[in-house]
Amino acid sequence: MYTVLDYGDMALDPTRSDAYTRALARAVQPGSIVADLGSGTGLFALLAARAGAARVYAIDVNPAVWLAQDLAAENGLGDRIVVHEASSLDVTLPERVDVIVSDLRGSIPLHGDHLSVLHDAKSRFLTPHGKLLPVRDRLMVGLVESPAFWQRLSHAWVGFEDRGLSAVTARAAALNAAYSDSDGPLHANNLLTHGEPWLDLEYGEPPATSYERAVALPVRRGGVAHALAVWFEATILDDIGYDNAPGTLSVYARRVLPLAEPTPVVAGDRAEVTLRASAHGDRWAWDTTIESETGAAKATFRQSTFLGMPASPASLLRRSSAFCPELSPRGKRAARVLEMMDGSKAVAEILAALRADESTTMIDDVEAVRDLVSRYAR
Ligand SMILES: C[S@@+](CC[C@H](N)C(=O)[O-])C[C@H]1O[C@@H](n2cnc3c(N)ncnc32)[C@H](O)[C@@H]1O
Repeated sequence: MYTVLDYGDMALDPTRSDAYTRALARAVQPGSIVADLGSGTGLFALLAARAGAARVYAIDVNPAVWLAQDLAAENGLGDRIVVHEASSLDVTLPERVDVIVSDLRGSIPLHGDHLSVLHDAKSRFLTPHGKLLPVRDRLMVGLVESPAFWQRLSHAWVGFEDRGLSAVTARAAALNAAYSDSDGPLHANNLLTHGEPWLDLEYGEPPATSYERAVALPVRRGGVAHALAVWFEATILDDIGYDNAPGTLSVYARRVLPLAEPTPVVAGDRAEVTLRASAHGDRWAWDTTIESETGAAKATFRQSTFLGMPASPASLLRRSSAFCPELSPRGKRAARVLEMMDGSKAVAEILAALRADESTTMIDDVEAVRDLVSRYAR
């Protein structure tokens, strides 16, 4: 969970904050009703109130969202901010809203349930002609040269090798993982190609499970290709937007997908990448071919986060849609707690009932029950 200071750091990003400020000033009319999804400490809610909103629903799972009301009072914005400390998926609003504003992207827009949350919010909260901010994001991909990134991947195994241990398989696994450049941000001159569009995400639409598209990347300067970088171009409203292309100072990091081997390239070469990702952004696959101007093959790599983390046959089977799951002892206990959450029993009574049942054991009853209550109770 973000700290209060994290929200301060997000507000500090001038490109992001200025774009949202301008978009809210344009979208919010005097008397508008607004929902700020993932409000944090309420920056967007406060901007909406200042733009004349009659009411702003500030929704966040993080209790930091209560600060939004104090900040509204501190800024002379009255009591127009209504706080919901909950997932938007569990919130019911008493009225439809004219504007929904959010930034649930994480570092790039394929992030957890971001897409389904916005789809749900648009269909349940927004008036038919209401505005959803941001409108869309375009994900971009480019080929990059980054000796520093490559050094970071390679150097990790020296800790094995210095002790006389080989680490070939771990090295190979690490080349099948998706990284962020937050520790060493990519610069514009790391790019060997222009960024090319990979995916357009129209917010509020029903999300796909995964996304896949092939992209041609003509090489425009010579160097050594180490990785693909993925970033996004945001449209917050109409012509208002920003991007986090390499070279942009931003709170958002870029996704970095290493190539299986550093590959020397010259201007005129051509890379072809087929990039696939799950909507949640937790699984990636990238097939890369690099050819010279004459069509001679320089490199062909097939990489995937599936190859980056070992999985036992049992865990693979559990992820299959053909798997018939059965509750474990811990699952049975959780099911009992959920059944008892019918509005008639206090948490203490639920705990007492669990402890009276000697057929099951739970290592930390109190924390486990609290967790179920915070997730699923109202
Ligand atoms: C990147 S922060 C943005 C915070 C704030 N809007 C800002 O710009 O300062 C995203 C926030 O969304 C919240 N969040 C993510 N999914 C949510 C959901 N479905 N319902 C409520 N809050 C959510 C997280 O807890 C986090 O505080």
